Amino acid sequence: MAVQQQTVLRDAMRRLNMTRDVFASRIGVTRRALDTWLLPDGSPESRAMPEIAGRYVAEILERAPDGGEYTQRVQPAIAFEGRSQLLSVDQFSRDSAEALFRVADVMQPIARRQKITRVLEGAVLANLFFEASTRTRVSFGAAFCRLGGSVCDTTGFTFSSMAKGESIYDTSRVISGYADALVVRHPEQGSVAEFARATNIPVINAGDGPGEHPSQALLDLYTIQREFSRIGKIVDGSHIAMVGDLKYGRTVHSLAKLLSLYRGLKFTLVSPRSLEMPDYIVEKLARGDHVIEQTTDLRAGLTGADVVYATRIQKERFANESIEGYTPDFQINQALVNAVCGPDTLIMHPLPRDGRPGANDLATDLNHDSRLAIFRQTDNGIPVRMAIFAILLGVEHQVQHSMRDAAWRSPAYVGPDDAVFHGID
Ligand code: NCD
Repeated sequence: MAVQQQTVLRDAMRRLNMTRDVFASRIGVTRRALDTWLLPDGSPESRAMPEIAGRYVAEILERAPDGGEYTQRVQPAIAFEGRSQLLSVDQFSRDSAEALFRVADVMQPIARRQKITRVLEGAVLANLFFEASTRTRVSFGAAFCRLGGSVCDTTGFTFSSMAKGESIYDTSRVISGYADALVVRHPEQGSVAEFARATNIPVINAGDGPGEHPSQALLDLYTIQREFSRIGKIVDGSHIAMVGDLKYGRTVHSLAKLLSLYRGLKFTLVSPRSLEMPDYIVEKLARGDHVIEQTTDLRAGLTGADVVYATRIQKERFANESIEGYTPDFQINQALVNAVCGPDTLIMHPLPRDGRPGANDLATDLNHDSRLAIFRQTDNGIPVRMAIFAILLGVEHQVQHSMRDAAWRSPAYVGPDDAVFHGID
């Protein structure tokens, strides 16, 4: 089976760093025509790209100069100290992150239940979660299953041998004899790296305390790029507001570092003083050509942002911080978004959000607002995590040729409030 035209076109726009409008004019077609070529096969409006246009796109990519706006085509690879492991976003360059996104694009028809694959048939994933999780644990498991593998889970310390004093080394080595990959979440920063040192099978960090959450950052950046492509923006030069618990929120730690691989961003870091972004990350951002602003003023911080990335207060990690001044009016809700955000500002959150009345988190009254990208974000967790597994286990080139039609029927939109473009753009 040939690579889908949507994958080819998205890859070309990413590599040329062009918005849809610029790319459409570069290849001499209308934006409308390009949009219909980008729709998934089988959707009523989708059109086949003429062969000549495909050849022209390939020629443009071949002739594109090295450097400048053009990113070299790199083979997807995820390695830590020479081993197939995903522990930190520091392992990525802009090119290698984008090579992973190309693999995620290939996974989209499977993630949307139109196609199936069995490339990981016989493989077993051990999902070891020593901290609370819903979406990360289930989506890693679902991603592995959609590649044809099977999943074994453990949850919490209480029912694990760690409660009997077993070391990370022993647990990791034991499970490695049972499984082909390990996904680990653990409350201590650096602990997942310790699991990784005790095994030669791929290990993925699904959150090490306040440290990192690299797969979340990858799916967040993938979401930002896809959403920006639809609304005519690129990541370079964009304005990202990160809000909430920036001290303990590992998702913002990983995402800020990943975004710093791009050029000329403006980061507005909005948090109570006691929960500011750690210095080592601010310093890393400052080493690039980025503008960094830190503020406690939510309204001012959100103004003019292309992306508002909200986070939950990580009370469970508090030592003796006070969140004085972090009053219930520190809430991102419909009224505030309408007052200070633009018509195409993206509202994101790694979830879970505290949806209880009076919680100073992302409010649920935004659920019908198409700017709210949180469920597009969670949906993108599947193709991105499938891509991570496929690359770590070395099957990424087999997926395209192995796909068959799914035998069952599923709804076009999985959520009742999904925007018209949800999942198809
Ligand atoms: C986050 C986490 O666990 O770091 N959730 C997630 O994985 N999507 C955020 C949080 O718990 O607040």
